Amino acid sequence: MRPIKTQEQAHIIVFGNEKGGSGKSTAAMHTAIALLRLGYKVGSLDLDARQGTFTRYLKKRFDFITSTRDHLPSPTHLSIPRSTADSVTAQEEEERTFLSLALQELGRRHHFIVIDTPGTDSHLSRLAHGYADTLITPMNDSFIDLDVLVDIDPDTLKIKGPSVYAQMVQDLRRKRQLCNAGDLDWIVMRNRLASLNARNKQVVGDILQDISGTIGFRLAPGFGERVIFREMFLKGLTLLDIKEGQDKPLTLSQLTARQEVRNLVVELAPEKLKGRVRPVS
Ligand SMILES: Nc1ncnc2c1ncn2[C@@H]1O[C@H](COP(=O)(O)OP(=O)(O)OP(=O)(O)O)[C@@H](O)[C@H]1O
Ligand SMILES: [Mg+2]
Repeated sequence: MRPIKTQEQAHIIVFGNEKGGSGKSTAAMHTAIALLRLGYKVGSLDLDARQGTFTRYLKKRFDFITSTRDHLPSPTHLSIPRSTADSVTAQEEEERTFLSLALQELGRRHHFIVIDTPGTDSHLSRLAHGYADTLITPMNDSFIDLDVLVDIDPDTLKIKGPSVYAQMVQDLRRKRQLCNAGDLDWIVMRNRLASLNARNKQVVGDILQDISGTIGFRLAPGFGERVIFREMFLKGLTLLDIKEGQDKPLTLSQLTARQEVRNLVVELAPEKLKGRVRPVS
């Protein structure tokens, strides 16, 4: 782990949650494009190369750019597959080297590096968590997703303790502090929130508020359950790419979703981390 960063080094944002399908790739793509549109230089890294959602999302974007000649900002993207070396030791060594090289390469020329990780525990994912300056954990409003953060008594809803994933993050945070590498900013964002004020939504929200201090994360405004987040993937576009007056007027749902993405980026406070830059239209 390295000592505290200089302003010139890229700020690393990792999207992580050992629960699959919580919205990591969707949120990573939207965050990368939102930062680009604010004028920052952004590198991106896909550590879930097997599924490759982030990489395929960007591939569709490049195809869209080629066919429309529309000038859409895009990150410098790299993807690291899991090592297939002969032994576990060799695999871990190879993954450590590749990740370190990729971060050095992207770190030199970018303000931010956005990393997407798989929805399962892996050596590569753990390494990336160790590099995170900001960790964003998207989670859906269910007790299964909550279980990734805390162990809850099913009868009393009392917290029995942090989950294995939360313990790993707490451990990495301690290591950072010991190495004088600065604190890790851990943000939990709720994703696919129901529009109705369902009881489950309320209960999960209350529990998250209660445990945030003990577990060591802060809560950011999340994304609602909106079809538009699923539809945008096909063209490699995000809600930050659609403009008013283009095609048809934006729907209320699109406008709200776009604001949700902006609200998440406000929580990251990019101007505090990297200063203000000229926005890209
Ligand atoms: N806010 C949202 N509203 C509606 N659908 C969403 C939203 N966020 C994500 N989705 C959809 O949920 C599914 C899972 O999202 P995504 O692939 O981003 O999750 P993930 O955490 O990266 O999954 P994995 O762990 O498998 O990598 C996708 O079909 C995506 O389009
Ligand atoms: Mg994914």
